[in-house]
Amino acid sequence: MDFSIKVGAPENQKSSCIVVGQLEDKKLLPSAASVDRASKGYLSKLVASGDLTGRAGTMTMLHHVPWVTAERVLVMGAGKSGELGEKTYRETVSRAVRALGDGAIVHAHLYVTEFPVTHKDEAWRAAQAAQMVADATYRFDRMKSKPASARKLREVSLGVSARPSAMLVRSWERGTGLGAGVSLAKDLGNLPSNVCTPTYLADQAQQLAKAYKLKVQVLDEKDMARLKMGSFLAVTQGTREPAKFIVLEYNGAKAGAKPVVLIGKGITFDTGGISLKPSGEMDEMKYDMSGAGSVLGTLKAVAQMRLPVNVVGLIPTCENMPGGNAIKPGDVVTSMSGQTIEILNTDAEGRLILCDALTYAERYQPEAVIDIATLTGACVVALGNVATGLYSNDEALAKDLLDAGMDAWDRAWRMPLWDDYHEQIKSPFADVANVGGRPAGSVTAACFLSRFAKKFKWAHLDIAGTAWRSGKDKGSTGRPVPLLTNYLMRKSA
Ligand code: BES
Ligand code: MN
Ligand code: ZN
Repeated sequence: MDFSIKVGAPENQKSSCIVVGQLEDKKLLPSAASVDRASKGYLSKLVASGDLTGRAGTMTMLHHVPWVTAERVLVMGAGKSGELGEKTYRETVSRAVRALGDGAIVHAHLYVTEFPVTHKDEAWRAAQAAQMVADATYRFDRMKSKPASARKLREVSLGVSARPSAMLVRSWERGTGLGAGVSLAKDLGNLPSNVCTPTYLADQAQQLAKAYKLKVQVLDEKDMARLKMGSFLAVTQGTREPAKFIVLEYNGAKAGAKPVVLIGKGITFDTGGISLKPSGEMDEMKYDMSGAGSVLGTLKAVAQMRLPVNVVGLIPTCENMPGGNAIKPGDVVTSMSGQTIEILNTDAEGRLILCDALTYAERYQPEAVIDIATLTGACVVALGNVATGLYSNDEALAKDLLDAGMDAWDRAWRMPLWDDYHEQIKSPFADVANVGGRPAGSVTAACFLSRFAKKFKWAHLDIAGTAWRSGKDKGSTGRPVPLLTNYLMRKSA
């Protein structure tokens, strides 16, 4: 998809379709009003006849409007004046783009920054629109023998009547950069585990490094053994697929500036291991590398935007399989930190690979460390598919992430790490157990991780409920790339 900004009156655009808006009190938004004047009241007549109501959720495609150069005018209902919220705006733009994507439209102009979203400025509206375009036109048909019929939509322009501010241009560009990062995360998530292996993720990291001049290093199992990553290696010992530890560095700020370290859980398939999962919906465990995908997606977005920040991405990646050599319940392993772990359930493997990555992160003397993981089914029970679970040992970091998520409409909700919960992961045989029973399963998983994150400001995002959608629209969401990228954007401002 090509993205651009087009300046000028909407009625004069050579376009397959221009998208304009109307409020429910019948008021045409500026570009719709401009089209109305040019067409000698064509739209007003439709308003008078009740064909155009402006109700949120409505959409009317008009063809060959008189004295309008564009072949089509799509009028979107924007709801009651003063009541257009973030969610409705996103849905409205998304619905418009979906309608465009289905038809014969090649080039569309969106006059959507004039939609009066409450509490959000034009810059926000432009960035969100770019993301909605990327989101609504995303397709994953790489695994089909014949791709679905090619889409005609090639170019989407942000339409503005006057010369746009530098801020607006930058926001639109950042929105497209973020869209590219989100799409990468979606692709990696949607790929099946027989394609998206740890080796594949390492190749992707290498390609990203090449394209954006990042520093990359891929450690193999020998390197991990040398580093004494006993916990990570325990998880991978049941599979034939080689594990990788990926280190990616983006240096956009001056040398010496402390980096933000992002750690992504990269279990390319989670069978549960010897504590085998039931077979229903087990296919969805190909998404258990979504944390890793979000780290690669965020680095792509950040690099494309050339943000002045330093970011390190760490990805421990392997499969969790049963096998003759697999870890067994009751086994005790020694993590890179020196802490011993009693593995009571081999299905609680995410924390076992993340803990060694957390210890590895110490060497960067990081500004902050954020791990992202499809960690617990319990988080889905707690927060559903709406909010990502956020845990942190630092108030300011927690607030920054919550705010970034709220603004990017990729929301998180804070959960506790109180001492009381640590009681549940005590072990009679080792320093800590890897599970804490059924109650508060997402919290005890985070408590486990916190024991390896004492040397820096740390946050943990449990994305088990938000990284992908199940059911008929099954697919990766690319979350929390928007939250993370927005956090880094705000940090660099
Ligand atoms: N990857 C899963 C978590 C998960 C399950 C995410 C379902 C999304 C949907 C994780 O490795 C896991 O298996 N966790 C266990 C932990 C339990 C054994 C303490 C879980 O949530 O059941
Ligand atoms: Mn598991
Ligand atoms: Zn898992």
